[in-house]
Amino acid sequence: MNMFYFILIIFIIAAGSNGEYHPPLKGMQYFSITCKTPEQLSLLRSLTNNPNVLTLKLSQILGESADILVTADESSQFKNILLLYKIDHTIITDDVEHVVHEEALKNNIVRMQSSRITLNKLSAEPFDYYPRYHEMEEYITFLAKNYSEIVSVDSIGTSFQNRTLYVIKISSGGDNKPQILIDAGIHAREWIAPSTALYAVHQLVTNQSNTYLYKNVDWLIIPSLNPDGYEYTHSNYRFWRKTRSINKGSTCIGTDANRNFDLKWMTVGASSNPCSETYGGPKPFSEVETLALKDYVMANNKTIKAYLTLHSYGQYLLHPWGYTSDLPENEPELRSVAERAAAALAAPFGTRYTIGSSTNVLYAAAGGSDDWLMGVAGANLSYTVELPGGRFDPPPSRIEFVGIETFEAFKVFQEYIEKTFVN
Ligand code: ARG
Ligand code: ZN
Repeated sequence: MNMFYFILIIFIIAAGSNGEYHPPLKGMQYFSITCKTPEQLSLLRSLTNNPNVLTLKLSQILGESADILVTADESSQFKNILLLYKIDHTIITDDVEHVVHEEALKNNIVRMQSSRITLNKLSAEPFDYYPRYHEMEEYITFLAKNYSEIVSVDSIGTSFQNRTLYVIKISSGGDNKPQILIDAGIHAREWIAPSTALYAVHQLVTNQSNTYLYKNVDWLIIPSLNPDGYEYTHSNYRFWRKTRSINKGSTCIGTDANRNFDLKWMTVGASSNPCSETYGGPKPFSEVETLALKDYVMANNKTIKAYLTLHSYGQYLLHPWGYTSDLPENEPELRSVAERAAAALAAPFGTRYTIGSSTNVLYAAAGGSDDWLMGVAGANLSYTVELPGGRFDPPPSRIEFVGIETFEAFKVFQEYIEKTFVN
């Protein structure tokens, strides 16, 4: 084989393994956009169906800002369209790559300074930086060992790349108690979600004044439902959202796990294109991660009364349905509990959440875990919690504050479950 063919083959191999496309971050612009009319909003929505446009936040509510990232190549076109249609916008940054690097650097600095590391000892203290998967794993394992009277750690399955999907059960013992299920990290890039779940674990396990919270109600907490994607956002591409499974017949990777649940699957707000950010997968529960959650929930569906799935960002407390603008029959109950939860959440620092059905507040999107938990598995309450953001995620210094306020809302859900289902 001569040199030419040798080099050609190397190229082909390299191209094959790099077939995955990521919108380049160099020179990517970050737009904050405010639509004032339904026409502007639907135009903006249509612009987001583009591989070079990443939607971080987009709601149905006029006057509320949307956060959209556009690659350097497309940003001047995008901006011209906004100007033509007189859509208000500001550019938050001209170089997303720079902000991403800065964010990673700051997180690494906090990690190096963290007493979790400097004292070189494991503890139940919460993370003050965004942890890697193995750090979460060490934390969870430590809790299971050192708080074994109330904490048990199980696996609900393994991810596509064979990472353990942990569930932390906090319980005072006994069978058939009503349970509250919380998961986080189904979307890889939403870093504040796993941290907030782990903060709740920390509060429940170490704060003696919280023991009443698991006297009559069990807590089931899955801190990282998509660990492959999460690791990928740390090691390769910050804005990864989907799982990391291989799609037959495509070089594009992953499924949007929150479009992969089996209730009105693929009917709205999901794509059948494997390259899309909202690809619903080849069939419902095609992903090992969503299938693991399904099996776990079905094994416990008599006792799981409330489900909270943590996402970011936007500060929304969303209840079903996501597949239709019709409201579920228990909407009054969903709303009133959410209102109390939002009031409790606002108490410490004044953080405001918007409440409503997913379709009416955000957009219609079928195949979400929240719809399936209530519509199929029979949970009485089901919510998607869109936690606060920062430039992307809140800076590490905010992790604790988000943890504190969100835990106040969790307590309201627990109280409701206890009142309604105990005795
Ligand atoms: N931001 C979330 C997502 O796009 C919201 C999900 C709301 N629930 C739903 N079933 N659509 O996945
Ligand atoms: Zn999400």
